[in-house]
Amino acid sequence: MYQFTLNGKDVELAADKGLMAYLREDARLISVKNGCAEGVCGSCSVLVNGKAVRACTLTIAKVNGKAITTVEGISERERQVYAWAFGQVGAVQCGFCMPGMVISAKGLLDANPAPTEAEVRSAIRYNLCRCTGYLKVERAIHLAAQALSNGETHVVEADAAHVGERTVRVDAQEKLLGSGEFVDDMQLPGMLHGAVLRSKYPRALVKKIDIAAARALPGVELVLTAHDVPGQRLLGHIVHDWPVMIAEGEETRYVGDALAILAAASEEIARRAVELIRVDYEERTPMLSPQEALAEGATHLHPKGNLLATTVVKRGDVDRAVAEAKHVITQHYSTPRQEHAFLEPESALAVPTQPGQLTVYTASQSVYDDHRGIVEMLGVPDEHVRVISKFVGGGFGGKEDLSVQHHAALLAWRSGRPVKLTLSRAESLRVHPKRHPMEMDYTTACDESGKLTAVRVRLVADTGAYASLGGPVLQRACTHAAGPYQIDNVDIEGRAIYTNNIPSGAFRGFGVTQTCFAMESNLNLLAREVGISPWEIRFRNAIEPGGVLSNGQIADAGTALKETLLAVKDVIDAHPDAGIACAFKNTGKGVGVKDVGRVRLKVEDGKVVICTSAACMGQGIATVVLQIVAQAAGLSRSDLRVHEPDTFITPDSGTSTASRQTTVTGEAARRAGEALKRELNHHPLADLEGRDFYGEYECVTDPMTSGKPNRVSHVAYGFATQVVILDAEGRVQKVIAAHDVGRAINPNGVEGQIEGGVAMGMGFALTEEFAVRNGAPAVTLGTLGLIRSTHTPEIECRIIEKNQAELAYGAKGVGEIVMIPTAPAIACAYFQRDGKLRNCLPLRETPYSRNRKGALESC
Ligand code: FES
Ligand code: FES
Repeated sequence: MYQFTLNGKDVELAADKGLMAYLREDARLISVKNGCAEGVCGSCSVLVNGKAVRACTLTIAKVNGKAITTVEGISERERQVYAWAFGQVGAVQCGFCMPGMVISAKGLLDANPAPTEAEVRSAIRYNLCRCTGYLKVERAIHLAAQALSNGETHVVEADAAHVGERTVRVDAQEKLLGSGEFVDDMQLPGMLHGAVLRSKYPRALVKKIDIAAARALPGVELVLTAHDVPGQRLLGHIVHDWPVMIAEGEETRYVGDALAILAAASEEIARRAVELIRVDYEERTPMLSPQEALAEGATHLHPKGNLLATTVVKRGDVDRAVAEAKHVITQHYSTPRQEHAFLEPESALAVPTQPGQLTVYTASQSVYDDHRGIVEMLGVPDEHVRVISKFVGGGFGGKEDLSVQHHAALLAWRSGRPVKLTLSRAESLRVHPKRHPMEMDYTTACDESGKLTAVRVRLVADTGAYASLGGPVLQRACTHAAGPYQIDNVDIEGRAIYTNNIPSGAFRGFGVTQTCFAMESNLNLLAREVGISPWEIRFRNAIEPGGVLSNGQIADAGTALKETLLAVKDVIDAHPDAGIACAFKNTGKGVGVKDVGRVRLKVEDGKVVICTSAACMGQGIATVVLQIVAQAAGLSRSDLRVHEPDTFITPDSGTSTASRQTTVTGEAARRAGEALKRELNHHPLADLEGRDFYGEYECVTDPMTSGKPNRVSHVAYGFATQVVILDAEGRVQKVIAAHDVGRAINPNGVEGQIEGGVAMGMGFALTEEFAVRNGAPAVTLGTLGLIRSTHTPEIECRIIEKNQAELAYGAKGVGEIVMIPTAPAIACAYFQRDGKLRNCLPLRETPYSRNRKGALESC
């Protein structure tokens, strides 16, 4: 018999088991999150005898006789203080890591009520956060320490909710205190647990799948293979090439391919049953690089061959401009595969509600994308499936594709019972698309003053086994490849190639992260040739309103790249050796693709309920639309509530991708708010009970093939300059990030995006690499090289608000651009220091690379 106290109450248990499983599943303390079950992320942190520890590393036997405290068990006063402090500084984003942060904070402050900055940073070093960059979390802990020591009482300022105000997020409290549900926190009576058998090899003929032993295991409810898919078996965003399951007689294309799915009474039985499925494979030689996939005679991985997409951007006469240029630089650049490492592994719960009807709870970047895939797979009319989003524990592009949603839906559809399917962290790494590895050849030319005259780019992207969003990623890589500069001659050609690697797809920056590193690095070499500073060459070429971008688009009046450069001039003057990089990034899908934001306001019970499907993966769109509606309608926060995305209730506002939601859904929110305001001018809110007010905004842009010389590629672009200062040892000491955001709807949110993006960009620059061996992950969450609190430098945000456009009060998306210039700015800092070009990521010969053995030796 084991005895311990849990949140002050005595507990006795006869059998040993994992502490995290006990707390989450038996005690139903859902503040304890399962982010990895590998002792790496800290999301499961609890206090044991007052010390913060990771519950997944402990068993009941190990806590025998001890006192365990979770966030649910800390005093009401402390809960209030933490909720206030974290909310006030904007420390919460996706929130998945947050209860663990609160536990680490309490463990520290109980022992040390007035910690130093280093002590706070150290206290959260085992808590991974992929969203915030840790700085706001640290500020929140200091604020909480002060309030607790001084006996201060604070309440969240609930009514500061207009555009430009530092509004506390609508979801902050629930996320912090652990009461808000993520999908894996849900349990339903009679619920089954799903599991998936995945391919052992990146490429193999599947001759036979024998499910008999798995089906016979007690507790297994059903086992399904490809022939059980009632509708469409090939799914995908644009190209339908990704099978729900690989059938007997077909080849696998990567190690994440599903061969069979099953549902059982418990997760443990489900995983044991997967082990019992026998597959007769004929292993075949995989194509693990674009070169192999493009070799003459290479097997076609898909019917149309191994070339997924080609993008060409051409203007002027590059040959002549290069021949006439004073300075020409040609270099090759390589960037690696990168893992999103959102803290919440993929999870879906599908629930049959009545015969032929299914409700699926998901955590993705669009409930409508999930819905489309599921109804296609089931072959049923739209109204038979409802998709509702729970909180989304980070996405960064990695939750745009179906991963678990369709499998959970099919299992529930066929079993008639609720089925939850949650990926282990190892499966998550194996299954979802990564950032495209790219090989890039760059030639840039300029005249004697440093004025850029030509850019030629040839790039190859490894798009892996399935198309995912490889085509659009390639397009954005190419349309942004010449940077935010006025260059009259460009010749850019990119190809995305299918291989037997893990698919590549959307990831914050969407291809631009890669080409920006190459373009900006070549600029540093040109500046040296010309004899001017890296800042000067950028300033002399920076796009201005009325200038023409390399894709032909005329820069609008809100363009503020020069303002971002001027905003960091003082830093450059004080630190001439600092690194610098500029970037631009589209807002909205653009290039003629349909792109619509929709918001419906419903007056219910005296409140205005804001309904939109725009997914919040942590970036804060729910709070942004609330502020915009409050501003447009002249209401206060207490009048408003935001509904979770739900295909039966909230209108389709597209995917949270392409930095589009703040502008596109934001404008729809403004229009809906203004419609409501017109009525409020004549009636009190109470008189509008039951009324609906609708706002819609469609981005109108020109397709790549429009043939127009100055086609409008995107409705807006964000611009940025980041500066990096190294310390004496060559570590990143400070990053100054100047961003043209148009208008900061919520400065807390914008700063949070910048700080988190810079931390992610720093990982991309220095420590992160998703290594693969024979097409399979050769890394774990713990060896990815993710930035922790103790690595994060000081980050200073300088926000430029120049845009006077009416659209969404001038706001432009910041979700992606925040990480794009970071890697080239860091590369520039090392270049400034030692004059060596580092042409691949993660950067070599830095203090951060000393501990990395064997990484990207090919570079
Ligand atoms: S779930 Fe325990 S450390 Fe990640
Ligand atoms: S807020 Fe920390 S992982 Fe998202």
